[in-house]
Amino acid sequence: MNFIDQSIQLYAEQHTSEESHLLKNINRDTHAKVLMPRMLSGHFQGRILSMISHMIKPKHILEIGTYTGYSALCLAEGLHQDGRLTTIDINEELEDYVRTHINKAGLTTKINFIIGDALQVIPTLKETFDLVFMDADKENYGEYIDVVINKTRLGGFILADNVLWSGKVLRDNQDKDTISIINFNQKIQQDKRVENVLLPIRDGIMIMRKVSL
Ligand SMILES: C[S@@+](CC[C@H](N)C(=O)[O-])C[C@H]1O[C@@H](n2cnc3c(N)ncnc32)[C@H](O)[C@@H]1O
Repeated sequence: MNFIDQSIQLYAEQHTSEESHLLKNINRDTHAKVLMPRMLSGHFQGRILSMISHMIKPKHILEIGTYTGYSALCLAEGLHQDGRLTTIDINEELEDYVRTHINKAGLTTKINFIIGDALQVIPTLKETFDLVFMDADKENYGEYIDVVINKTRLGGFILADNVLWSGKVLRDNQDKDTISIINFNQKIQQDKRVENVLLPIRDGIMIMRKVSL
């Protein structure tokens, strides 16, 4: 489902900075070789993630859901010069593929790529994060926010992708993932720990700022 008129979306993309050569290659290669390439953030959302990261200049970024590494590289563009990004994915089959991209980007020492179940891994992390990007399994969004919020600094930002779920949040006959997203959006709307804005960009991005402990 397109939330924005397609010609307007195209115009917006044509007036948005290009992605790097490496990102373009990852995008193309993922579509040619990897299952479910729709999961990749892509040019427009990638530039938004990069811009937000540049605005915050985070020292510590956490990403839940690496996939082929596209969004991790976009977010890493805005890292503080001493910053580091941690990205977690449960799918070990893509490990070599992702590590190749991280190395090609020259970010081997800046990106900590962890294979594992994010709900198990996050409580073990030592960092306090300035920026978090949630983009993994939708049924756990409600749980991710609770483990992530304790690891986010006061005033830090959390982004959650796919919160409009192709518009299914407004339809009857909802499936399990849609119900999880609806519950997550309701939970965030009532959560006094964050201020939030639901941006109807691409598949919907919930932007949250941690305002209390
Ligand atoms: C939508 S894709 C991420 C796309 C990526 N952020 C991008 O924009 O290019 C979701 C990823 O979450 C991973 N995932 C699913 N369940 C997970 C879990 N419990 N822990 C960590 N990663 C998980 C999947 O293996 C998949 O690669």
